[in-house]
Amino acid sequence: MKRDGIQQSLWQQIPAFEIKNILPANTVFDVLIVGGGITGLSTALQLQKIGKKCLLAEAHVIGYGSTGGTTAHLNTLLDNYYNRLEKNFGEDSAQLVAQITRESIELIKSNIEEYQIDCDFVEQAGYLYAENEEQVKELEEIFEASNRAGLQVRWVTDIPVPFPFLKAMIVEGQASFHPTKYIYALAKAFEDAGGILLQQSRVVSVDDGEIIKATINEDIYSAYNLIYATHVPPGVNLLHFRCAPYRSYALALKLSNEDYPAAQVYDMQDPFHYFRTHITNEEKFLIVGGGDHKTGHEENTEACFKRLESYCRSHYDIKEVAYKWSSQYFEPTDGLPYIGQLPGNGENVFVATGFSGNGITLGVASSIILTGMIETGMSGEYAELFDPSRIKMVAGFNNFVKESADVLGQLIGKILPGEKLPSFSDLAHNEARVVKHDGHTLAIYKDNNGELHALNAACTHIKCNVAWNNAEQSWDCPCHGSRFSIDGEVLTAPARKDMEVIDLRKES
Ligand code: FES
Repeated sequence: MKRDGIQQSLWQQIPAFEIKNILPANTVFDVLIVGGGITGLSTALQLQKIGKKCLLAEAHVIGYGSTGGTTAHLNTLLDNYYNRLEKNFGEDSAQLVAQITRESIELIKSNIEEYQIDCDFVEQAGYLYAENEEQVKELEEIFEASNRAGLQVRWVTDIPVPFPFLKAMIVEGQASFHPTKYIYALAKAFEDAGGILLQQSRVVSVDDGEIIKATINEDIYSAYNLIYATHVPPGVNLLHFRCAPYRSYALALKLSNEDYPAAQVYDMQDPFHYFRTHITNEEKFLIVGGGDHKTGHEENTEACFKRLESYCRSHYDIKEVAYKWSSQYFEPTDGLPYIGQLPGNGENVFVATGFSGNGITLGVASSIILTGMIETGMSGEYAELFDPSRIKMVAGFNNFVKESADVLGQLIGKILPGEKLPSFSDLAHNEARVVKHDGHTLAIYKDNNGELHALNAACTHIKCNVAWNNAEQSWDCPCHGSRFSIDGEVLTAPARKDMEVIDLRKES
């Protein structure tokens, strides 16, 4: 199956999902779900099971976005630790967060049992370890807060990875699985229950109202409710200023020995590293992740893989780097995701985003919350806690917004003087550059045959300039995370329109 970059994840090594269902004529659906990742499919299946008529539209193929590029950790211990959640939201709220993460893992387990899903699911403990005194201090706070939130934690004197440490804790009740095998089974169950699934179907416009009219490719579909399960929603919304896009890197390694950990392990560096073992089709892999940075803020993304690999080689005997891939997630300003009614839209338009690095667990949590809201028409305590309209101005908010905007100029190369565009003969094959020329900013890539691909560098969402991602050969927007191919095709929302192609012969 395909994903949104040139690198191959371990989870892509299966054929694309084949749709079996037939679209009924003139249907007004109860719910239109946009996005075929874990959030969209999990929500669609839950709603279809309680009797709602659902249509799910995916712009590419299911699993194309972050679900196909995750490392598939199912956690109750989240990236935004409980000491920070307690500080921002209070002890009761931290307990609610722990509770919904447990419910999410339980829902996955019950789906696996009900639909007999073969998806390499294993339950494991997680370890978090500190390597210096400052980290020890925070680890002690995390331990206490996690304990108060209801997690089963205890101190340990050993960790299952070969890195030196000062102090470590273990938390029970974590799990992992093969994410695309799992969502394929959800997609099949959704179709078997009467749901309608569309692939290669981009929602290009939406008219709000009691009955929502959505144009998907060139056809119009009607629904009473709409859910954006696309990370940040399209258009311009409050959430674009409360979520920042990040890239994360992963390797699937084969070791020369049997040093694979039978657990999930996390260090506390910034950005942190994480480790787990995955066995699929009788092959064993050490999956390592890390190297996260804000989208568009790293000039050489290929170097992120190199750094991650050399960090692993410093302590592991690596036989082979079997797969390497990167993916995108959205960091919320205050540490909690935004799940519920989309601000500035009708009461029948919903969103789920800002999952930080816990997209699988919180995507499933979203399906529980959104199904409850649509089924009952009411919000419960989860919906109040994760309300996308909440205002939580935590420390660092202003920098958060400013940093996203600041990147615009920083990766732009030379400003080209004169009237003529140069031939870019100094650009190597498979290299790219953003240049200014006579008031225009151009994104230029030279392919392996020496052919130039030129685009107007303005992202089609709200016109920030894109930056080159050499590891995935894509143009990435630092503002809200839209991504485009070398020929300007949209790979990742919120942009809905392809970038403008520039004919260099006319420009020169
Ligand atoms: Fe918003 Fe590019 S994603 S301007």
